[in-house]
Amino acid sequence: MPNLSVPSRRLLRWIPALTLGVLLLLAACAPEQYPQTTLLPRANTARDQDHLFRLTLWWALVVFVLVEGALLIAIWKFRSRPDAPEPVQTHGNTTLEIVWTIIPAFILAMIAVPTVRTIFKTAAKPVGDDVLQVEVIGHQWWWEFRYPQLGITTASELKIPMGRTVNLEMTTVDVLHSFWLPQFAGKRDVFPNRYNNLWFKAEVTGNFPAQCTEFCGIQHGRMAYRIVSLDGPAFDAWAANFNAPPRDFVADSTANALVKQGQGLFAAKACSGCHSMYPALPLIGPNLHHVGSRSHIAAGTLENTDENLAKWIQNPQAWKKGVLMPNLGLTDDETHALVAYLRANQ
Ligand code: CUA
Repeated sequence: MPNLSVPSRRLLRWIPALTLGVLLLLAACAPEQYPQTTLLPRANTARDQDHLFRLTLWWALVVFVLVEGALLIAIWKFRSRPDAPEPVQTHGNTTLEIVWTIIPAFILAMIAVPTVRTIFKTAAKPVGDDVLQVEVIGHQWWWEFRYPQLGITTASELKIPMGRTVNLEMTTVDVLHSFWLPQFAGKRDVFPNRYNNLWFKAEVTGNFPAQCTEFCGIQHGRMAYRIVSLDGPAFDAWAANFNAPPRDFVADSTANALVKQGQGLFAAKACSGCHSMYPALPLIGPNLHHVGSRSHIAAGTLENTDENLAKWIQNPQAWKKGVLMPNLGLTDDETHALVAYLRANQ
């Protein structure tokens, strides 16, 4: 680089670092790697929201290029030079004033009309027998899901049928929370004594992580949940199976002794005071009917394994300080039996 000045050479040295930085930045945009990304819509509502986002982004880009372009041209053209005369000074130009009022007004209209249309569309309340109605209830710090048409109450895992309209009627029993379905329908805040709704039709099956998005106390960060999208027959099978009362292992001669002991402990210890094992019975804590079949426990924050379940029930405060569930002082043997019982509730 013999003809380059010192500042130019310094600048060149930064090119590899800058290229690497840009590549890393772009790598962060690969939506498949990030299950909570909103850049990969997988339902009609998320698609509408994504469309609105992109539309606004393109208009913003046009505005940015035009404004910054004009600014750079002015900076270059009217830059200070030793022998340059002072540029002509102008004050007030009616044509210019009208033009730069009309253009922004036009751009705002191009963004506002689709925005308002999308707001009304997503806030509409779909009705009819083919619409699956789900009541979503926020608690510090977990989500409860009730399916009035199916007589089901469950927690932390929102099961939905792919290809069918799902309408969520959402509220909270304590403080404000925000229910977020990143790839399906965006988010909606929930308020006490008020119902907000959100509806969508999932296009894929799968198990997706989600997270409360309104600060709601010290365990806001661990108020997670899963959205489990199943195909039609799998959803119907889940609902039918879920509707059956819990298995009575004590009365079942084929059941494992540890599981029987666990069932006895569940009733004898404080567990059954807060957690229902019946599909349609909501109590103060998350409903545990079929808890063994959930992919996660502790409001979607721990994988559902024997080890995690034992850790959680023996000392919930260690993982989630401030949670309503107290340490019951369970021995290792009691924990072992309770884990066996809970995991057997498939
Ligand atoms: Cu609930 Cu944050």
